[in-house]
Amino acid sequence: MSVSLGDDFVDFASEVMYIIEDRMVSMDKAFHYARLRHRLKAPPRVYYNAVSDVVRNYAYLSFIAKQLLGSNSRKAIAKAWLLLKSNSHYSRRLMKRIRVRVEDAEARLMEVKDKDPLAYLSIRYSFPRFIIEELSRGMGLSELEDYLSSLNRRVTWLRVNTLKVDLDKAIRLLENEGVNFTQSKHYPFMLLASDNEKPLGHLRLFKQGLIIPQDLASVLVVLNLSPEPGDVILDACAAPGMKTSLIMQLTENKASVVAVDLSVGRLSKMRMLMRRMGVDESRIHLIRSDSSRLKLAKGINKVLIDAPCTSSGAASKDPGIKLILEHKPSLVKHQSMTQESILLNLIKQFKDSQVTYATCSILPEEGEEVVSRVSELTDAKLSRPNVGDLSNGYVNYRIAPLVGRVMPHIHNAEGFFIAKLNASP
Ligand SMILES: C[S@@+](CC[C@H](N)C(=O)[O-])C[C@H]1O[C@@H](n2cnc3c(N)ncnc32)[C@H](O)[C@@H]1O
Repeated sequence: MSVSLGDDFVDFASEVMYIIEDRMVSMDKAFHYARLRHRLKAPPRVYYNAVSDVVRNYAYLSFIAKQLLGSNSRKAIAKAWLLLKSNSHYSRRLMKRIRVRVEDAEARLMEVKDKDPLAYLSIRYSFPRFIIEELSRGMGLSELEDYLSSLNRRVTWLRVNTLKVDLDKAIRLLENEGVNFTQSKHYPFMLLASDNEKPLGHLRLFKQGLIIPQDLASVLVVLNLSPEPGDVILDACAAPGMKTSLIMQLTENKASVVAVDLSVGRLSKMRMLMRRMGVDESRIHLIRSDSSRLKLAKGINKVLIDAPCTSSGAASKDPGIKLILEHKPSLVKHQSMTQESILLNLIKQFKDSQVTYATCSILPEEGEEVVSRVSELTDAKLSRPNVGDLSNGYVNYRIAPLVGRVMPHIHNAEGFFIAKLNASP
């Protein structure tokens, strides 16, 4: 990346990192909350891409900063990024000296690799050490390295919203806009965008709801729910409604969804989104409630729980989660307790329904462990999610062959956990 950012970038990046850690918010939110945003000297997008890169590589930059600058404060981390990436801000002589010192630091990192491979992976790919340790119990080092590297790589999937546009027409419209993409062989309405110089968010097709950015992993969750016309589906953590709208797309607006969410703000976004996406709103019943206590009359035949989670599987989209988990690992336990109470409440209540439980997390505490506990407590049976050629769960869990994982290095998508349970006696 060719950049010409200056010292204002160091202050700004450091403020964004501080906000992420302190308020535990996404990278995007921190970027917008940062006071220094109003004093930037180049277009915000340049800073956005650069700060994302700093956050994504925080541990590696921290290691380099310590060697280069003798400090790994937030400012030193941002400065290390500038020294590594900037080719115009500093003099040639200084850059030459820096290059030699970076080579020394890299050599030191290789020594770490020999002595403590897990510490190496944690630094190289900037994931908290506790995550690396947990994942290493379920896969070998070489696969783990591929997994971590892919989790850092941003992949952009687009869904053609066939409720509003015919597939061939959408493809023509995208081509006319000069968007580069390849069509999925298995799911023709899914397009993998790549090598696009301009950001796609400004396209009219997006604003009109004809094309929706939605990761393949999120789509696979809904495909495993197998929605059919006439189904009455409880979407227990529904907002902002990406999966609800896909349910309606797949059933040509012929299913009904009871869409529950705890957040009023997210539900009101969902209402607008449903309209924009051409969803038949008379078939969507929005309810503000806590799904761990929710009591509903019968009549539901499928349940989708896209549970709140750490979003560690979506770290490529929001690298902020890596910083948050580094500083607040207890978040994992907190999320896992919420997930368990939602799943437990709904599985007990909808004994005759098929329940699909999913999280966009790479952590077993939010996947295998929740499902193992709940199926033991309720005698619910697990049936292997069978769409999308999913990987098994982590091998160090007994239920591994009965649950599915979307793995970024295998499926070219975000990391997701998917399980299907049924509690009928
Ligand atoms: C992963 S997001 C859902 C994304 C959504 N399914 C989609 O595809 O657009 C998790 C959602 O769970 C909601 N949530 C958190 N705790 C909840 C609870 N106890 N009951 C219901 N919803 C909850 C959050 O507000 C958030 O909107």
